[in-house]
This record gives sequence, C-alpha cells and structure tokens, in this order.
Amino acid sequence: MFFKLVNHETQIRILEERDAPELFALVDQSRSYLRQWLPFVDSTENVEVVRKFIQTGLQRYAANNGAEFGIWYQGAFAGVIGLQSIDWEARSTTIGYWIGEHFQGNGIMTNTCITLFNFLFRDYGLNRIEIEVAPQNLKSKAGVTRLGLSFEGRKKEALRLDDQYVDVDAYAMLSKDWLVRDI
Ligand SMILES: CC(C)(COP(=O)(O)OP(=O)(O)OC[C@H]1O[C@@H](n2cnc3c(N)ncnc32)[C@H](O)[C@@H]1OP(=O)(O)O)[C@@H](O)C(=O)NCCC(=O)NCCS
Repeated sequence: MFFKLVNHETQIRILEERDAPELFALVDQSRSYLRQWLPFVDSTENVEVVRKFIQTGLQRYAANNGAEFGIWYQGAFAGVIGLQSIDWEARSTTIGYWIGEHFQGNGIMTNTCITLFNFLFRDYGLNRIEIEVAPQNLKSKAGVTRLGLSFEGRKKEALRLDDQYVDVDAYAMLSKDWLVRDI
C-alpha cells in the first residue's frame, strides 16, 4: 500500500475503509469553512458516504486511474489529497486537496504537494499535474503559486458551490519544469 513520509511531522498513505470515521469527523468539524470551496461537503452526511468515497478511491487506485490519500500531521488525521483520474495518453492528472480548519498554516499542503509531485513525476512517469482553484480561494492560490505552478486560464462557471456556478482558475506544472528545480 502506498505510504510516504512528507517530513518528520507529516505522512500520507492511501485511504482505507478503516479511516472513514476519522475522515467524517474532520469534515463534520470543518463544514462551514470547507463548503466555501468544496462541493461534496453537504452531501457528506454520514460515515457511510465517506466509506463509499474511500472505496471508489481504492478502485481507481487498483485500476491505475487515480487515488485518494489521507494526510496525517503529528499523528492526527489532517486532510485528503487525491488524483481524480489519470489520462495515461497525455500522462496528465488533476489534483484536489483539503485539510481540517485548525491544521491550516503549518505548510502541510505545500509540503505534501512537494512529496506527491516528486513521486508522480519521478516514479509514476506523469508529465503534467493540474490544480483548479476558485479565484477567490486566496489560500489555495497562494499555495499553487508557492509551488510554482503556472496560471493557464479561467474556466467559466466550471464548478457549482452552494447552488451557485463559480469560475475556476487552472494552474499546471510540467515534469520538465519541476525536475530542473530538484526539490
Ligand atoms: C488551501 C489549503 C489546502 C491550504 O492548506 P495549508 O496547509 O494551510 O497550506 P500551505 O501548506 O500552503 O500552508 C502555507 C501556510 O503555512 C505557513 N507555513 C508554516 N510552516 C511552513 C512550512 N514548513 N512550509 C511552508 N509553509 C509553512 C506558511 O507561511 C503559510 O502561511 P500563510 O497561509 O499564513 O501565508 C487549506 O486552506 C484548505 O484546505 N482550504 C479549504 C479547502 C480548499 O480550499 N481546498 C483547495 C481547493 S482548490
């Protein structure tokens, strides 16, 4: 099973069904903050919904078509980072992520992305990673900018949040641009 140390405080591994109660509890604690940016929050009504999400992620992982990873910080379940699917023709994927409200501001997502990007470009052979960010999501935008992704354009009303269509900005990193940085 996939497991990576990000640093001495943070680790990621593939989500397993046994993680469902912790994942649900974290969503439940952070609903008002997460629902500003993520469409799944209100439909995550109970642990069973989370269990199905984890099962789908495991199926995608087994089929080489994406994965959902849990993030642990100082031993506590802190959030999720996932590859929604993989286009193996283009060797390209889109990454999504979130962490619990009180885990923000410790560099967890920046450092997790560095570890995952290194794995996906060096070991997994991907050529392109995309991250989509709502223009008003300044924390996520700061993160993708810190990681060095390039802004590629705005997708009009590509996301529905809280019954409203919202734009998303597409950012991307290519393997050749990541690997020369050697981080
Ligand atoms: C966006 C989100 C994932 C950012 O998580 P995060 O772990 O706080 O993000 P980062 O790793 O980029 O942390 C950076 C912050 O930690 C600080 N930090 C502390 N130690 C650090 C370290 N060792 N390395 C890097 N940054 C560090 C930085 O200074 C920065 O602080 P600032 O935000 O006040 O400038 C989080 O806010 C979130 O889950 N939001 C809701 C869901 C969401 O928006 N998901 C993304 C949809 S596109």
